[in-house]
Amino acid sequence: MGKLHVVDHPLVAHKMTIIRNKHTSVKDFRELVSEIGMLITYEATRDLRLTTKVIETPLCKTEQPTLAGKKIAVCPILRAGLGLVDGVLRMVPSARVAHIGMYRDEETLEPHTYFCKTPKDIADRDIIIVDPMLATGGSAAAAIDEMKKRGCKNIKLLVLVAAPEGVKRIQESHPDVDIYAGALDECLNEHGYIVPGLGDAGDRIFGTK
Ligand code: PRP
Ligand code: URA
Repeated sequence: MGKLHVVDHPLVAHKMTIIRNKHTSVKDFRELVSEIGMLITYEATRDLRLTTKVIETPLCKTEQPTLAGKKIAVCPILRAGLGLVDGVLRMVPSARVAHIGMYRDEETLEPHTYFCKTPKDIADRDIIIVDPMLATGGSAAAAIDEMKKRGCKNIKLLVLVAAPEGVKRIQESHPDVDIYAGALDECLNEHGYIVPGLGDAGDRIFGTK
């Protein structure tokens, strides 16, 4: 079964409280989503392999660690996932970006895919799917399906807030995928929103409400 890693760090906890607050401005919300994304990426990349290379400091030659060069793609689920891309790229600047457009039907809560554009060599890359919210898990599960259809094997899911229902769904449908989250919340309400959550992530990032 895939593991759930809830990032246990005071900076993440503090910033999560600010974005949950309904009085936080669009500007602050957007900036903090990016910052928290960066901090969760730090945890999600903990298993990246290292090799060594010889460099010269001002004092001497020395053999030092460097990333082994495994290729990564960050894959935002549009729209709200876009808010996390910048944070991941600040940590992993060489990563490519694969976009998946998906929206959740407000009545049925079923995800609908409307766009998917990936780098040509996506099957050779480690994938970090990003979306602020893991609610029922329908959108994330469908995004993982899309990436697996394209041959991707090593997939991680990075979210800000996870609901137990969404975690269960991913662990059951994609047991090979680990989840990295800023917080694990209590439950979903009758409209499929995470409680206490932070509301509609896309609307809060883009100011569309
Ligand atoms: C939100 C969120 C996730 C999805 C989570 O997107 O960003 O993609 O809902 O819900 P689920 O786990 O039940 O599938 P939404 O469909 O509102 O689209 P948006 O990003 O365009 O706002
Ligand atoms: N999508 C959101 O943006 N927020 C939720 O709480 C659930 C789904």
